[in-house]
Amino acid sequence: MGLPDLPGKLTVSHRLEELGGITDEPPGLTRTFLSPAHLRAQRVVAGWMKEAGLDVFEDAVGNIIGRRDCGTEDAPTVACGSHLDTVRNAGKYDGAAGILAGIAAAERLRGERLPFHLEVVAFSDEEGVRFHTTYLGSRHYRGDTFLADVRDSNGVSLAAAVAAHCPRFPSPPARRLAAWVELHIEQGPILENENRALGVVPAIAGQTRLRVDMRGKSGHAGTTPMALRRDALVGAAEAVLAVEKCGRATHGAVATVGCVDVANAASNVVPGEVAFTVDVRHESDAIRTRLVGEIVERIQAVAGARNLFATIQTALEAPAVSCDVDIAATLSEIIAEEEELCPQIVSGAGHDAAALAAVARVGMVFVRCREGLSHHPDEFASADDIEAGIRVLTRFLREFRP
Ligand code: HGY
Ligand code: MN
Ligand code: MN
Repeated sequence: MGLPDLPGKLTVSHRLEELGGITDEPPGLTRTFLSPAHLRAQRVVAGWMKEAGLDVFEDAVGNIIGRRDCGTEDAPTVACGSHLDTVRNAGKYDGAAGILAGIAAAERLRGERLPFHLEVVAFSDEEGVRFHTTYLGSRHYRGDTFLADVRDSNGVSLAAAVAAHCPRFPSPPARRLAAWVELHIEQGPILENENRALGVVPAIAGQTRLRVDMRGKSGHAGTTPMALRRDALVGAAEAVLAVEKCGRATHGAVATVGCVDVANAASNVVPGEVAFTVDVRHESDAIRTRLVGEIVERIQAVAGARNLFATIQTALEAPAVSCDVDIAATLSEIIAEEEELCPQIVSGAGHDAAALAAVARVGMVFVRCREGLSHHPDEFASADDIEAGIRVLTRFLREFRP
C-alpha cells in the first residue's frame, strides 16, 4: 500500500496480542459476557481509548464506549468498533481487530474537527456464548430492552447478571446514531483467494438459532435390551445428520449443530435427555425460513420414529441485513484508490452492524484472514492488512458527512 510504517501498526499488533492473552480458559482464548476476563479486557481497552484522547463511558450491559464530543450538542453520532467477547477457544482478531482499528482511527483523527460526535465501541456480547442470544451489547446500544429472563448454563438470568454488574465508568450521554462503520476480519476465504487485503460488505446473512431438547428414557446400559430403548442421544445423532443433510441440499445455506449436552451423562447409562443447538444461515430470509421449517419437521420425524419427544425453541431470529449503499460505495471507492479492486462480500457471519442497521446506516470493511479461518486459535490477519483497513476507516470518518 506504499505509505510509511505508521507507529500505529505496531501498536495495534501488540494490543491484539495483549487482548488475545486475556482469557477465562487458558491456554485458549475465551471471553464471555461479564466474565472475569471480559472485565479485565474492558479495563485495558478503556485505557487505550483514554490514550487516544477519548472520554470513556460504560453502559448497563458492559459496553465500553470511547467518545469524542464534537462541540455541537445536538450533532449526530458516528460510531465504529466491534465486540470484545469471543467464542470458546477463539482467535484473537474476531471483534478485537475492529475495536483496535476504531481506537487507532480516533488517534489519527485527534485534533481534527468532525461534524459529528465520534464513538468507538467495545460491545460486551456479540457471540451469545453465555446466554445463547446474540448482539446483546449492540442491541442494548441501539436502545432495546434486553431479554431479562434468558438463563446461562448455571441458571443465572441475564437480568440478574446485569443487576450484579457495577459499571466502572460513567453512563454514556444520549446519542443520535447516524452511522456505524465496522472493520472486521472476513472469516472466509474470498479475499485470500482473490489476493486482496480488503473488501466491502453489501449485506449480512440472516440467522436462526434453535435449541432442541430430545427426551427419551434413561436406563442401565447393561440391562436395557436394545429393542426396548428410548435412547435420546441416538435420536439426537440422527437429527444432527438430518440437519447437515438439509443444509447441504439448500444452495447457499449453512446449517450447524455446535453444542450437544447429554444430561446426567455416564458411560453406563442409556441417555434419557439430550439438548443441542441448531444454527441456520442464508442471505435470503425466505429460503432460510423454509429451511428451518424443513429441519424442524425432520427432527420431529426422527423423534416420532424413535418414541422420543423433541421440544424445539427459537433462541434467535436475526433477519438478513443490507448495508447502506452509499457508505458501501464510499468505502469501495477509498479501497479501490489504494488497491485497484474492492471485492463485495456478503457476510455469512453475523456482526454488530446487523443489529445496528435497525437504527442507523451501516457499513463494513472486511480484512483478509489466513485460509479464511475463524472461531479457531489459528485465526490470523496480517499487520499490513489491518493497517490498510485502519487507513480506510480513518479516511472514511474524516470525509463522512452524516
Ligand atoms: O456467529 C456469528 O456469525 C458471529 O461470529 N457472531
Ligand atoms: Mn465477530
Ligand atoms: Mn465471531
